[in-house]
Amino acid sequence: MPTAPQQPDSKTTDSIPSDALVFFGVSGDLAFKKIFPSLHAMAKRGHLTVPVIGVARRPWSIDDFRAHARASIEQHGGLDEAAFDTLAGLLRYVGGDYDDPATFKALRTELGAARHPAHYLAIPPSMFGPVVEQLAASGCTAGARVIVEKPFGRDLASAQVLNKILLGSFDEAHIFRIDHYLGKQPVHNMVFFRFANAFLEPVWNRKHVESVQITMAESFGVQGRGAFLEQTGTVRDVVQNHLFQVLANIAMEPPARSDGESMRDEKVKVLRSIKPISAANLVRGQFDGYLREEGVAAGSRVETFAALKLEIDSWRWQGVPFYIRAGKSLPVTCAEVVVRLRCPPQIFPACLAGSNHVRFRIGPDEALAIGMTVMDTAERGTGQAIELLDTRHPEGEAIDAYERLLGDAMVGDSALFAREDYVEEAWRIVDPVLGDATPVHAYQPGSWGPKEAAAIAPPGGWAVPEMGTAP
Ligand code: BG6
Repeated sequence: MPTAPQQPDSKTTDSIPSDALVFFGVSGDLAFKKIFPSLHAMAKRGHLTVPVIGVARRPWSIDDFRAHARASIEQHGGLDEAAFDTLAGLLRYVGGDYDDPATFKALRTELGAARHPAHYLAIPPSMFGPVVEQLAASGCTAGARVIVEKPFGRDLASAQVLNKILLGSFDEAHIFRIDHYLGKQPVHNMVFFRFANAFLEPVWNRKHVESVQITMAESFGVQGRGAFLEQTGTVRDVVQNHLFQVLANIAMEPPARSDGESMRDEKVKVLRSIKPISAANLVRGQFDGYLREEGVAAGSRVETFAALKLEIDSWRWQGVPFYIRAGKSLPVTCAEVVVRLRCPPQIFPACLAGSNHVRFRIGPDEALAIGMTVMDTAERGTGQAIELLDTRHPEGEAIDAYERLLGDAMVGDSALFAREDYVEEAWRIVDPVLGDATPVHAYQPGSWGPKEAAAIAPPGGWAVPEMGTAP
């Protein structure tokens, strides 16, 4: 009797749980808005039992640090006294410069008996090198993991340099490159849904799919992040990372096995099949008023909107256009994917263009919908577009993306993290059009981007996200 192939679980081979979390950049914005609330949620679920050592330049006492954590949780999510007590009891603080050996000596002392710390670098990429070097010199890298925040570089060359720095002290199985979109349940569900249902696979290809469109619209503007956006722009900030991850989930082949490496193998293959984007396939926009924001350079040509078209030159997808549009100061805040199917032969003059589709809503609400044409209820013999819609709500308290990702990294599960080859492939695709290689066109806040973006639109046009599909 043939034996069933061995199915590894979703963990990497090294799944020794981390025995401390070291958090560089603990006084920053990301920590305040996202990470303390996630650590608090982990403590509340009983998933955080190891010391959390914050490292930053500020000369804080442990009480200052705890007060900062408390303020963060109160402002971003709400505080549960018992969970906070647990978290506060785990917090430690090391103040000092990231290039001062004394900081790392103090860190080594705080680590005490911990032999498998996870070092989380929520710091500017320019500091990765000095911090990793000091961690290695102070004996903090042996047996450790490193978790790195985006942006992972600003182009292919800088990402390669960062990879070299990290791989100099950690092997790939111990490096966790965060893309918080991967921690979002609906993004993960795209893969699950695709491979858990038999009806999808026969149509999920060039024969039946007309186009795929991915929208990430944000109705807010700069929100005090002018200096950051000046260094990034939409393509670097959300396209190269978050939206390519979404695209890979939509387009990947079934993995050979369900483990993280097999999934990541398939995702990188999708990117390998995409040619670098040409200037003709990208429209960049900047909303009126961006130049008046704090931290924005006079005459800046950084984009706050991008629309682009690309093709996955694979057996499954060749010839199917994939569109991505993302921007700030757009009419709504909504991230979703619409996979449009081709119309069947027209026996009834009825298939409404654009009405055969699968729609994945990632946020702010989560939904999955199948669009189709049915006979109109007034019996005029015409078609009517409807959607079978499932709005989804988590059971119990939702797990935030950061909570999921930090928890996974601390047990060595790398499935939801970007691998070295993946990030480099993603940069290769956008490299030729980064910066101001292409013109930037003005648009009015509250519009769908510059009029020039009309040149990059799916057949049948962009689907305008309908808000309020979930109560
Ligand atoms: C971040 C970007 O990575 O993702 C922001 O830097 C963007 O510009 C944010 O607003 C969107 O993420 P979310 O989870 O808030 O939709």
